[in-house]
Amino acid sequence: MTERRTQAEQAGAALAGSRAPHRPVLVIDFGAQYAQLIARRIRESRVYSEIVPHDTPVAEIAARDPIGIVLSGGPASIYERGAPSVDPELFALGVPVLGICYGMQAMAAALGGEVGNTGLGEFGKTPVSLAEGSLLFGDIAAEQSCWMSHRDSVVRTPPGFTVTAVTQTTTIAAMEDRERGFFAVQFHPEVAHTPHGTEMLAQFVLEACQAPPTWTPLQFIEEQVAVIREQVGDDQVICALSGGVDSAVAALLVHKAVGDQLTCVFVDHGLLRKDEAEQVVEAFEEHFHVPLVHVQAQDRFLDKLAGVSDPETKRRIIGEEFIRLFEDEAQKLGDIRHLVQGTLYSDVIESGSRTAAKIKSHHNVGGLPEDMDFDLVEPLRMIFKDEVRRVGVELGLPERMVWRQPFPGPGLAIRIIGDVTRERLEVLREADAVLLEEIRRAGLYHELWQTFAVLPAIRSVGVQGDSRTYAYPIVIRAVSSEDAMTADWARLPYDLLERISSRIINEIAGVNRVALDISSKPPATIEWE
Ligand code: XMP
Repeated sequence: MTERRTQAEQAGAALAGSRAPHRPVLVIDFGAQYAQLIARRIRESRVYSEIVPHDTPVAEIAARDPIGIVLSGGPASIYERGAPSVDPELFALGVPVLGICYGMQAMAAALGGEVGNTGLGEFGKTPVSLAEGSLLFGDIAAEQSCWMSHRDSVVRTPPGFTVTAVTQTTTIAAMEDRERGFFAVQFHPEVAHTPHGTEMLAQFVLEACQAPPTWTPLQFIEEQVAVIREQVGDDQVICALSGGVDSAVAALLVHKAVGDQLTCVFVDHGLLRKDEAEQVVEAFEEHFHVPLVHVQAQDRFLDKLAGVSDPETKRRIIGEEFIRLFEDEAQKLGDIRHLVQGTLYSDVIESGSRTAAKIKSHHNVGGLPEDMDFDLVEPLRMIFKDEVRRVGVELGLPERMVWRQPFPGPGLAIRIIGDVTRERLEVLREADAVLLEEIRRAGLYHELWQTFAVLPAIRSVGVQGDSRTYAYPIVIRAVSSEDAMTADWARLPYDLLERISSRIINEIAGVNRVALDISSKPPATIEWE
C-alpha cells in the first residue's frame, strides 16, 4: 500500500505539474476553518488556488511558483509562545501577498509593524469604512459591512504601508503597500457576511497578482484526461460507483480518458436507501456507456457489521470490505491494478491535513486498509464539490445526478446508532424515504445540502390507540452548507415538520416519536457517526 500510495502521490505531482499553466494562489493555512473557503472563493474568480500548511518551508512554496500568496486567519495570538509566524523570506519572493485576520497580524509582525492586544476585540458583523484609492477595494463603495473575529490588532503599520480601512474600534482594519504588492485585512472577506468580500479577493488575484482567469471546468477536464492517461497507460481500470455525483463524475472523466479500459462496479452493501440500487443502475444504464458490474453483497457487509456499534469500527469494516470486494471483482475481470475513487479536496484536507484535527475517517480516504492492492486514480482530489458539479454539467451528467444530495460511503450504517441489524435498517430506510418524499414535495431538496433520518439506539414510551408502545424515535437531520466543512441546521417550516412527523409515526411500525436535530457544524458534525 505504501508503495502504491506513493505512486498515487506521484500522479498527484504529475497533476500539479500539468497545471503549470495555472500558477496557483497558495493559501497558507494558519489553522483556520476559513482556509478552504478562501481557496474556494478565489477559484470562483477562475484562478487556481490550493491550501498549504503554515509550516511549509519557503523553498517549497517558491518551488510551486505561486502567482500570489494568501495568509489565512488562525486561532492563535501572534505573541503566544509557539504561535505560527511567517518566514520573512516569503516576502522576498516577489509575489503579491494578502494577509487575512491572523495573516494580517503575522504580516505586520514579520515586516516591522506592531501588533497589540488593545482590549478592543470585534466579533461578528461590523461596519467598516474603506479608503479611496485602495487597489484591494477597487470600486466598492466606502461604507461597508464586514465580518470580524479578532482580539489582537495591528497598532502600527510596517514601513511602506498605508491604512486602507477603519472601524469604530480598529484604527488599522486594512493596510496595503501597493508598490511591493502587500495587502492585508483584519476582517474576513471569504465569508458571506462580508458582502463584497468575494470582489476583494477577485481584486487581489486578478488585479494585484494579474492571475489569468483560466481555471475552468473545461480546462480541468482537459488536464485531467491527460493526467489519467499518463497514470493508467494501457492498463485496465475499475471504478467504485456509488450513485453519487462524485463517483459518477470521476467515472465519466476516466471514461473520457481511457474509454473501454474502464469497468464500473456498483456495490449494494445493504446500507443503501429505499429503491436506491435500482435507481442507480437504471440511471447508469441510461446515461453511461460503460460496462457495469452490479454486486449484491448485502449479506457479506451485514454479517461483518453484526454486533459492531463503534462508529470508527463500522467505517473501517465497510472500507475494508469495499476494497476486498473490488479486489475480488478486479481478479474476475483480469489483471486490474487501478481503482478510481471520487475523493474530493475537502476529504483530503479533513482526513489528515497537518493543521486540521482528524474528525472522522471518511472511507474514501482515511478508512482504506493499509494493505490495499490498488493504485488509486483520484481525478477529483484537488477540487471542491461545487466544482465537481460544474465539471459534471460539462461532461453531460443529467441534472438529477448532478444535484443529488451527498450520501456517505458507509451509508445507513453511520445513521443507525449502535448495532446495524436488518430490522433497524428497514425502519430507518422507510423513515428516510418518507422524509425525502416530503422534502422533495415541499420543493426544498435542492436548497438543502443534506436531509436524512437517523435512528438512535434508544426506545421510549408512547401510546397508540389505547396501548402502550415502547418503540424507536427517528431524528430528522436537515442542513444547509456550502462544502460540508461547516453546516447550519435548516429551519424547516412547522407544517412540513408536522406532516413528516405524523407520516413517519403513522406509517412506520416500530416508531413512536420524531425529533429534530437543531445542531450546526461545528460543534456537531453532519452525520451522527
Ligand atoms: P460530517 O459528518 O463529517 O460529514 O460532518 C461531512 C460530509 O461528508 C459525508 N460523509 C462521508 N462521505 N464517506 C463519504 O463518502 C464517509 O465515510 C463519510 N462520512 C461523512 C457526510 O454525509 C457529509 O456530507
